[in-house]
Amino acid sequence: MNVLVTGGMGYIGSHTCLALLEAGFTPVIYDNLSNSSVKVLEQLKAISNYDFNFIEGDIADTAMLESVFRDYNIPAVFHFASLKAVGESTEQPLRYYDNNVSGTLNLLTAMDNCGVKQIVFSSSATVYGDPQYLPIDEQHPISATNPYGWTKVMIEQILNDWCLANKNNLAISLRYFNPAGAHQSGLLGESPNGIPNNLIPYIAQTAVGKRDCVNVFGNDYNTEDGTGVRDYIHILDLAAGHVAAFSTHKEDNGSFVYNLGTGKGYSVLEIINAFSSSAKVKINYQFAPRRTGDIASNYADSSLAEKKLGWQAQLNIKSMTDDTWRWQSKYPNGLE
Ligand code: NAD
Ligand code: WQD
Repeated sequence: MNVLVTGGMGYIGSHTCLALLEAGFTPVIYDNLSNSSVKVLEQLKAISNYDFNFIEGDIADTAMLESVFRDYNIPAVFHFASLKAVGESTEQPLRYYDNNVSGTLNLLTAMDNCGVKQIVFSSSATVYGDPQYLPIDEQHPISATNPYGWTKVMIEQILNDWCLANKNNLAISLRYFNPAGAHQSGLLGESPNGIPNNLIPYIAQTAVGKRDCVNVFGNDYNTEDGTGVRDYIHILDLAAGHVAAFSTHKEDNGSFVYNLGTGKGYSVLEIINAFSSSAKVKINYQFAPRRTGDIASNYADSSLAEKKLGWQAQLNIKSMTDDTWRWQSKYPNGLE
């Protein structure tokens, strides 16, 4: 069964393509390469010995999407394509709403025009805004604290309405907590453009000597060691979650929402120490003021995914830091 993977050249999409292939699906990758390298294709081939179909295209291009749906006889879409930098979204909100929300509307229009009725969407724990309780379950009120987060809230709502309007449609929104790690081969991983926003890529670049020192944003939070606590989930577990969700629901209709996290939080200092052990180097860090908009702690209640999808994260923090380090030390500058 062919499936379209928008954003399939990116960090999470590329790893999910491998998991889909392994599960017997045939991913067709659709990506505009705005935040990824075409060299990902060679890495996918080196890992899987399979030549993935790749179409360079934008989700804004309804006509191109329609021709791909028809040419490849696609019944389902895994939709990763999105801009994702929180800070940038506050500076360029219209670009974010356009790319993410209008882009998704175009995608759904093309799907409707071609009779494609199933979508798995990359949502985010960002839709919970400031947590009112922990661990966060799917019933927690929805909100956002920045335009990027609002794009996820809006798209989830659009998918709900799309399913209400047509009883044959299926939409699964997967709310990821903090994706981390890399493929265990060391051939595929995350290579952010410019200065990394996220903690683990920043630590990895510090460990490899590209950055001098990690700024730890805040050491006066109400957490065990005063630094921020997050639920980091291995990218391979996340990829497996997509396969589990689609395999479970592919005969169903309606909209479904699942958290994908481990249920366990780690502080910034714990992550720095874990990475230091994996890389066997001392990682310089200094305490810096809190980052605007940050929360103290965030971790998932993923029991719904466990119960309904039979999915549970398997890989621990050591796997995440070992695998990130394998990738980072092999490709200090990413694939470019
Ligand atoms: P990424 O930037 O590595 O991948 C996104 C891919 O989409 C890139 O290859 C990019 O070129 C492509 N893309 C962007 N806009 C496009 C467009 N208009 N048309 C076609 N392709 C386009 O990001 P990622 O970390 O792999 O994230 C994948 C998805 O998961 C995104 O929707 C993101 O919002 C969501 N998500 C990510 C995280 C995270 O921390 N990485 C957490 C929660 C949710
Ligand atoms: C983790 C912890 C920081 C960098 C973001 C998005 C969220 C989702 C995942 C997409 C926090 C601290 C970080 C640094 C630090 N993305 N930190 N020094 O903020 O939980 O989530 O990515 O949907 O929407 O907001 O992840 O990795 O940026 O931060 O001390 O250089 O590390 O303060 O406590 P975050 P993160």
